[in-house]
Amino acid sequence: MEAIKATHINEAAAYINSKISIKPEVGLIMGSGLGILGDYIENPVTIPYHDIPHFPISTVEGHAGELLIGTLSGRPVVLMRGRFHMYEGYGPDLTAFPVRVMKAIGAAKLIVTNAAGGVNTSYNPGDLMLISDHINFQGRNPLVGPNDPELGVRFPDMSQPYSKRLRELAAGVAKEQGFSLQEGVYLAVIGPSYETPAEIRMMRILGADAVGMSTVSEVIAAKHSGMEVLGISCVSNMASGILDQPLSHDEVMETTERVKSQFLGLVQGVVTL
Ligand code: 6GU
Repeated sequence: MEAIKATHINEAAAYINSKISIKPEVGLIMGSGLGILGDYIENPVTIPYHDIPHFPISTVEGHAGELLIGTLSGRPVVLMRGRFHMYEGYGPDLTAFPVRVMKAIGAAKLIVTNAAGGVNTSYNPGDLMLISDHINFQGRNPLVGPNDPELGVRFPDMSQPYSKRLRELAAGVAKEQGFSLQEGVYLAVIGPSYETPAEIRMMRILGADAVGMSTVSEVIAAKHSGMEVLGISCVSNMASGILDQPLSHDEVMETTERVKSQFLGLVQGVVTL
């Protein structure tokens, strides 16, 4: 059964609190190839996931599997280097578990990032997209099962999953730093296979601008917890059927590498807001 136990969250939070002396304000979840942000955390305390009670362990290459707590642009943050995906076999409750823990140790805001395929044909690889909304095509929800009212309400509102306030502030930061951002709808699938051209045509008709394999269950849990959320996709490649070329994870990693300075500047800027 997919249900998050408050006792597990509290045990994980108590362990982390025993290792740190600051209270993080912002939780950061980094997508494929974007964990580099962790190198910019000042005075980090690094806690491997396997040391934290009830924490899942991540398996995909490019994801390290540790929690970093320190300051970024002078602000106390907690960063997940490596996240959990449903394609690894985790249920949405486990992929969302670390978000609950971040909230429990103090984070009121969540900045979540991912590498995504461009569905909107006007996008280009390397574009950064503020997520304005999402479509859950994963067929699962982290809140299924008994609801613990200590964690949130039974039927959480999802009318503004991605904070308009934070999106406007992020757009301002990008403008100051001399680049522009796309803004669009992120559609999440389970993966791990990429989509067929027919699936991408369908997604475009449904209103998706980008497609990926993460983020949605974390954001649902964050909204349930009452967190303010900012989501940023790095368009690492065009989705299937747009260009006459196959998709590869190598391309995803190469593009995120290419835009990482823009990306780092953006997140370092928004963390202070
Ligand atoms: Cl094209 N699809 C999915 N599902 N995830 C991706 C992607 C595409 N590109 C990067 N991540």
